[in-house]
Amino acid sequence: MKKKAFITGINGQDGSYLAEYLLEKEYKVYGIVRRNSIAEHQESRIDHLIGNGVETDYGDLLDVSSLEKMIRSIKPDEIYNIAAQSHVRISMEIPQFTVQTNALGVLNILEAYKNNHPQARFYQASSSEMFGRSVDEDGYQRETTKMSPTSPYGCSKVFGYNIVKHYRNAYKLFAVNGILFNHESPRRGSNFVTNKVVKAAVKIKKGLQNKLFLGNLNAYRDWGHSKDYVRAMHMIINHAKPDDFVCATGVTNSVGDMCNYVFNKLGLNYKDYVEQDSKFLRAEELDYLRGDSSKLRKTLDWEPHYTFEMLMDEMIEHWLKIYK
Ligand code: GDD
Repeated sequence: MKKKAFITGINGQDGSYLAEYLLEKEYKVYGIVRRNSIAEHQESRIDHLIGNGVETDYGDLLDVSSLEKMIRSIKPDEIYNIAAQSHVRISMEIPQFTVQTNALGVLNILEAYKNNHPQARFYQASSSEMFGRSVDEDGYQRETTKMSPTSPYGCSKVFGYNIVKHYRNAYKLFAVNGILFNHESPRRGSNFVTNKVVKAAVKIKKGLQNKLFLGNLNAYRDWGHSKDYVRAMHMIINHAKPDDFVCATGVTNSVGDMCNYVFNKLGLNYKDYVEQDSKFLRAEELDYLRGDSSKLRKTLDWEPHYTFEMLMDEMIEHWLKIYK
């Protein structure tokens, strides 16, 4: 019989790649989507999968009845909790909504899972944002690095991470955390910095835009490809024992480095076009992330297929096709 996966956040970047990956592995995939007023946006990233192995229903992490109903009727083998208010700066504008969704939402789905189908395995999308300003002496963050988050988003993710560990220990559930560093793709929302920069650089190249306004150019991030990271999620949930893993490339670049690479590829100098706008700065900045994923590499034999350059090239190609 086919394995069944239930994904919250299935219409997001990671949810859509994860659904595709699981379909390749012969899973039947179910998901919840949040209702919004533009019908076309509800399932825009997974339109091609609906009816082809993926089924969705309306639901929300804050609507426990929708979670219980789905888990009771599907009886999934694997539950992936990927839904979140995932934008860090916006979490400073809507802190309460962010914390309800990303913290209480995890508790809601854990309860629905524990009370209705505890035989399933459960994956929680935890984040490198939980580390905040903590860096080990060798310049990396890893599973043992202290967590000191610098945003409502980061704080909410620390709660999610801890409550998953607590449910694992207290109720003997197979509940795990993937601590994922930044991961991008052409499907990334264009208000995250990579896709914002690539899209704008291509538009500037085509004469469709003059300037690009950004926040902190000196922030360093460890950027990988979402496709590599959803593969890690599946490995982590299928490990012999429930455990938590960091997933990262181990390479870090600044936002300025990234702009330089992208504009250069298009034959432009980013310094001629990029300006700072304070509205894109954060109330507290997180300046540096670089992950050590040795545990994941050694235990589960994971390694990324994409380099930073391959990732950026794919995103540039994507926008060049759109603005040809
Ligand atoms: N979004 C954005 N827009 N970021 C900017 C801008 C801008 O105009 N200018 C500079 N930046 C800087 C941010 O200050 C941050 O340091 C860096 O670019 C990356 O920002 P984002 O792409 O918004 O991602 P993030 O690092 O805040 O969060 C992402 O990664 C986390 C994992 O570490 C999100 O995907 C989170 O959901 C995820 O958990």
